Amino acid sequence: MTAKIIDGKEFAVRVRTKVANHVARLKEENHIVPGLAVVLVGEDPASEVYVRNKHISTIEVGMNSFEHKLPVDTSEADLLALIDQLNNDPSVHGILCQLPLPNHLNEELVINSIIPSKDVDGFHISNVGLLGTGQKSMVPCTPLGCLMMLRDHHGSLSGLNAVVVGRSNIVGKPMANLLLRDSCTVTIAHSRTKNIEELCANADIVVAAVGRPEMITGDWIGKGATVIDVGINRIPHPTIEGKSKLVGDVDFETAKEKAGAITPVPGGVGPMTIACLLANTLTACCRANG
Ligand code: GUN
Repeated sequence: MTAKIIDGKEFAVRVRTKVANHVARLKEENHIVPGLAVVLVGEDPASEVYVRNKHISTIEVGMNSFEHKLPVDTSEADLLALIDQLNNDPSVHGILCQLPLPNHLNEELVINSIIPSKDVDGFHISNVGLLGTGQKSMVPCTPLGCLMMLRDHHGSLSGLNAVVVGRSNIVGKPMANLLLRDSCTVTIAHSRTKNIEELCANADIVVAAVGRPEMITGDWIGKGATVIDVGINRIPHPTIEGKSKLVGDVDFETAKEKAGAITPVPGGVGPMTIACLLANTLTACCRANG
């Protein structure tokens, strides 16, 4: 039996359509246009692609997109001054500062200078604390997208055994908190975890977020389990010289023979991240306007 493929691209279109419809209603009935400000410092090519995609998607759902591209040698004071200006701008409902920042800038300080209500990444320490204590917060986009797909597939997640592989602040830890909030029994596994294969093989849900290409193979997956692959890794193409290929943290070909459902890479979690960013911006706008 091969797994059901969870189509993140199609799911993301549904989320974006819902957001676009809500934005249209807000405009028509309340004359409010949600606005997202994205700050990019430097010229990292991958970050530039992400920021361009965010800009296009924001416009597509009818929101205002404010792009701020700053030179790589921008001082911390200048960056904080821009964030302060965005914090106080009523037409800006969401602020995202693209990471990683150049080395001379203190990421924690910069993230925590965004007011929590506009922190659409959910990275501010207040939002981290609110999520950790099960309170209303802004939720990081990638784990939120994973949760939506899991809820859609399973209905209730209550009582399921979930293993999150990876303990990053951006994905692993918030993912674990979200699953716990939905009454899963959650294990966070990482590079020092003993018997990691056995832990995964006994799980109903495996979320892979380690950043190691195709690390999790079919023999790590229990029969019928749901596998969510957050990894986006570029590796040399196996047959075409000079070409590269995108793969996840899961070895898709072997895992799909064991899993009940699985997200592909590309076309799984990736498209959901931007859709959730738009959903978070809409949420921030609605909360700001009562
Ligand atoms: N860089 C890579 N992923 C992300 C993300 O989700 N948010 C921000 N701000 N930067 C990133």
